[in-house]
Amino acid sequence: MDALVCSSCGKNYGIDQLIWQCNCGGMLDISISSKLPLKRLKHRNQGLWRYREVIPVKDDENIVSFNEGFTPVVEIKIDSKPILFKMDFLFPTGSFKDRGATVLVSKIKELKIKKVLIDSSGNAGCAISAYCAKAGIECLVLVPENTSEEKLNQIKSYGAKLYIVEGDRDETARVALKLAEKIYYASHYYNPFFLQGTKTFAYEVTEQLGWEPPDAVVLPVGNGTLLLGAYTGFKELFEQGLIHRMPKLIGIQSEQCAPIFKMLKYNFNLMPNITVKPTIAEGIAVGRPPRANQVIKAIKRTNGTILTVSEKEIKEGLDYICKMGIYIEPTSAVSVAGVKKYLKIGKVKGTILSTFTGTGLKSHKR
Ligand SMILES: Cc1ncc(COP(=O)(O)O)c(C=O)c1O
Ligand SMILES: [Zn+2]
Repeated sequence: MDALVCSSCGKNYGIDQLIWQCNCGGMLDISISSKLPLKRLKHRNQGLWRYREVIPVKDDENIVSFNEGFTPVVEIKIDSKPILFKMDFLFPTGSFKDRGATVLVSKIKELKIKKVLIDSSGNAGCAISAYCAKAGIECLVLVPENTSEEKLNQIKSYGAKLYIVEGDRDETARVALKLAEKIYYASHYYNPFFLQGTKTFAYEVTEQLGWEPPDAVVLPVGNGTLLLGAYTGFKELFEQGLIHRMPKLIGIQSEQCAPIFKMLKYNFNLMPNITVKPTIAEGIAVGRPPRANQVIKAIKRTNGTILTVSEKEIKEGLDYICKMGIYIEPTSAVSVAGVKKYLKIGKVKGTILSTFTGTGLKSHKR
């Protein structure tokens, strides 16, 4: 039986309980009981719901989907080395967040919830609003005051109620937590069903590489929903015997906001109080990510690491990729800067895969 499991105290809850956090305050994960039937895959649509058996939504009727997923993997040379990049900016709302949104909103529909709340730097708000629009679910989106006009317009266009919080990303999260006492919290970083969507990143990558995982996966980290999703997916594939090793997970943070990097470097168990400095990587400007300890565990268990990149390095990465005809948002260029840094620290062997997480079409003017 699928279950909600607390990552702190280990308590189990039924999969249909209307909770997004354990009573002890710990983060919930989902343990799934089914396996992926490989032989059946070849007759299925090339979208992320092809991994149907391992996505914990019971009834197909509740699936809220735009046939998203199975984004292309493209080879790009970084410092003369071929690196694979997964084009996750090509999702219906323009970012990888649609992976999480299609699964979380499907489960919300299954639970017959009619109104939800999310806080976001913009992209997750766009994704949850779009899928709620499709499902006919009311959606309230909280964003920080520096969110781009384009992201605000997108959220409003889907018919969501927008609430612009005076303050930064962390202040927005604090306001949302208060409101979540009354409205179901469709949070991309607290709600474990979102990670059940982002885990399809690992399933897709592995299938696209002929059921061989890459050796290292380089990902931008704010709250870490993509990194934790990727970890969950690779771990499930490993436990099902579909892969025989886990890729190293390499998390990348901005020098301007690097709480998880600091925790790992100085061996802190508790979140340090950091000042978030301005960064063009707005999507990862998260000063207090609640799943930080889980991100660190995932990185350690895969023998990975976490690195930081400067504003200059992010801008150079952005220019380099845009000049190749790929229009991404600055947060996504953290991947390029991160790969460059990872190549520099040496001992890098095998296939390295990274991703472009969001489109440039809705980021701040540059
Ligand atoms: C384009 C983009 N890339 C990466 C991230 C980072 O995702 P996470 O906060 O889950 O680590 C975000 C988050 O908003 C984003 O919008
Ligand atoms: Zn607990």
